[in-house]
Amino acid sequence: MEIKNICVIGAGVMGSGIAQLAATHGYHVNLVDINEEILKKAKASIDKNLNRFFVAKDKMSDEEAKKILSRIHLSTNRDEAIKDVQIVIEAVFEDMALKQQILSDLDEKCDKEVLLASNTSSLSITDMALKAKNQERIVGIHFFNPAPVMKLIELIKSKNTSEKTLKIAKDFSEGLNKTVVTVNDSPGFITTRLIYVLCNEAINMKQEGIASTEDIDTAVKLAFNFPMGPLELSDLVGNDIYLHIGEYLTEKLGQNYQPSQLLNKMVKDKYIGRKTKKGFYNY
Ligand SMILES: NC(=O)c1ccc[n+]([C@@H]2O[C@H](COP(=O)([O-])OP(=O)(O)OC[C@H]3O[C@@H](n4cnc5c(N)ncnc54)[C@H](O)[C@@H]3O)[C@@H](O)[C@H]2O)c1
Repeated sequence: MEIKNICVIGAGVMGSGIAQLAATHGYHVNLVDINEEILKKAKASIDKNLNRFFVAKDKMSDEEAKKILSRIHLSTNRDEAIKDVQIVIEAVFEDMALKQQILSDLDEKCDKEVLLASNTSSLSITDMALKAKNQERIVGIHFFNPAPVMKLIELIKSKNTSEKTLKIAKDFSEGLNKTVVTVNDSPGFITTRLIYVLCNEAINMKQEGIASTEDIDTAVKLAFNFPMGPLELSDLVGNDIYLHIGEYLTEKLGQNYQPSQLLNKMVKDKYIGRKTKKGFYNY
């Protein structure tokens, strides 16, 4: 199957990044969201990113950036946007019921050959596909933020994903110049499970008062050569997001993943991180 056109559902942080990445690699992308305003903002941010990170640095001509933008078509009509595409990638909110509903609707409406993917960062692909008839064509394609820059894609094989689907997803991902790892469906996959454990344990240390916020972050950055410390990362991603992930991992994998009491308190008190301008640090 030759892939020429793809549809990305959800034009937030990840959806717009995936659209930019795919259009840069020559695909026509139908980018879908629930209202025009969000879509316009997404396209403006792609335009800005292309100019700032590529054109201004002489990595791309102005003409090439315009061509990339012209390959991104905005739509609020999902049924229209899935016509004549070979891959659909959903990047809507991290909500199991919403993703299940979208995947089963896509499964009903898309031609049998079309690959259906989710960009979830933690939810079980097997569970997400449960309401669809043709579960063998559903796979997790987990991009990282910012999608045009980050080198990794985690492919998630559900209990029912076929080898054919996995191969198409792998070829597509490698064609985007990414390194691909494959994971058998398990909550949080490799990356989210590990980063959650690191951040949650750092929050436990902060709660126990064994070191200051700055010293925990500095220790992790310099000891392990990580670009960011776990507490600044938790603020960046959103402490609310980590709390949700922790609750989900605890439900699915057991008590080892129990979110720290301090994490619960911070979210309750709206210390969400950068979004609320206060978290482990003030912004
Ligand atoms: N932000 C990250 O760092 C990151 C990294 C990897 C994966 N993810 C995953 O990617 C997904 C999206 O995350 P995000 O950070 O881009 O979220 P976001 O909130 O920035 O964007 C989600 C978008 O989905 C849209 N949406 C919601 N319901 C919709 C529907 N029915 N139809 C069309 N659009 C709809 C919203 O309007 C919004 O624009 C989540 O599953 C998340 O776990 C996020």
